[in-house]
Amino acid sequence: MPSPAPSREGPEGPEKSAPDTLMGVLGAAASWLGNKGLERPRLEAEVLLAKALGLDRLRLYLEFDRPLSEEEKESFRKLLRERARGVPSAYLVGEREFHSLAFSVDPRVLIPRPETETLLEAALEVSFPVGEKGLFADVGTGSGCLAVSFLLERPGWRGWATDLSGPALEVARANAQRHGVTQRLRLVRGDLLAPLRETVEEGSLDLVLSNPPYVERGDPGLDPDVARFEPSGALFPGPEGVEGLWRRLREQSRPLLRPGGWLLLECAPAQAEALARSFRKGLAWKEPRTWEDLAGRPRVVGAQVAEST
Ligand SMILES: C[S@@+](CC[C@H](N)C(=O)[O-])C[C@H]1O[C@@H](n2cnc3c(N)ncnc32)[C@H](O)[C@@H]1O
Repeated sequence: MPSPAPSREGPEGPEKSAPDTLMGVLGAAASWLGNKGLERPRLEAEVLLAKALGLDRLRLYLEFDRPLSEEEKESFRKLLRERARGVPSAYLVGEREFHSLAFSVDPRVLIPRPETETLLEAALEVSFPVGEKGLFADVGTGSGCLAVSFLLERPGWRGWATDLSGPALEVARANAQRHGVTQRLRLVRGDLLAPLRETVEEGSLDLVLSNPPYVERGDPGLDPDVARFEPSGALFPGPEGVEGLWRRLREQSRPLLRPGGWLLLECAPAQAEALARSFRKGLAWKEPRTWEDLAGRPRVVGAQVAEST
């Protein structure tokens, strides 16, 4: 493999005179992104070059010595400049993998996160004993990653996915079509579960799941690029705060869920105890359970509707 060409700091992207073969251009780009402070510059460069050339990433290694045209290099440079500006690579390539499935994403939706797989795993766990058929709602569906992945794992289930954002629902609809679940998923715009009140019978849902906005304003742990490029309505809970959102989710879910039905919520690890405590207020819910993410941090809290309330 040729050694990377010297990189150049500057707004124009890597040196225009970088070696012309695919591997040469890739090496120069990786070193340029590395100088910009990106953590995995080689991987990032590969992903963006594959996008610019319309190739699968692994295919790059089969075509390593092919020369790139000026047009190809320019479209790659454009992506590199955007990446160096902080635009998430998922938006640049238009896709992110979740549960080993490819989801279309763009700035209308939050980029699916690996920790949200914990919510999906919890949903699969609690839905398993219900049997062949079931009804669920995914509140704040965003890209639709949870609802679509869940339906593919539970072919006997049907459900609703809601979101306050119409543009986000367009992305979710495209993903539902992409993965062939539109017959079993109704996408509805509105606040939390309000759109279901007219159409869904009381006590008929087996499961409500939600990854609601839960980032606290001013959270020092929030990556500034996340705040800059991802939709703020997907990150921050608004004036009612996260506790207000949880309260309304509990209040709206309870009458729609059957006795024994589950409400599962993703949260930040530091919020898990407070969320569990909130389920213990009153007699509506059984003792809550917590699920940990792959890093061993509490990430999902859920509870079943008590048998008689
Ligand atoms: C953290 S994102 C989760 C997106 C997706 N479910 C995921 O896990 O990647 C929260 C989503 O909830 C939506 N949302 C925020 N407030 C809402 C509300 N009051 N009612 C319905 N959806 C809401 C946002 O538009 C956003 O799409």
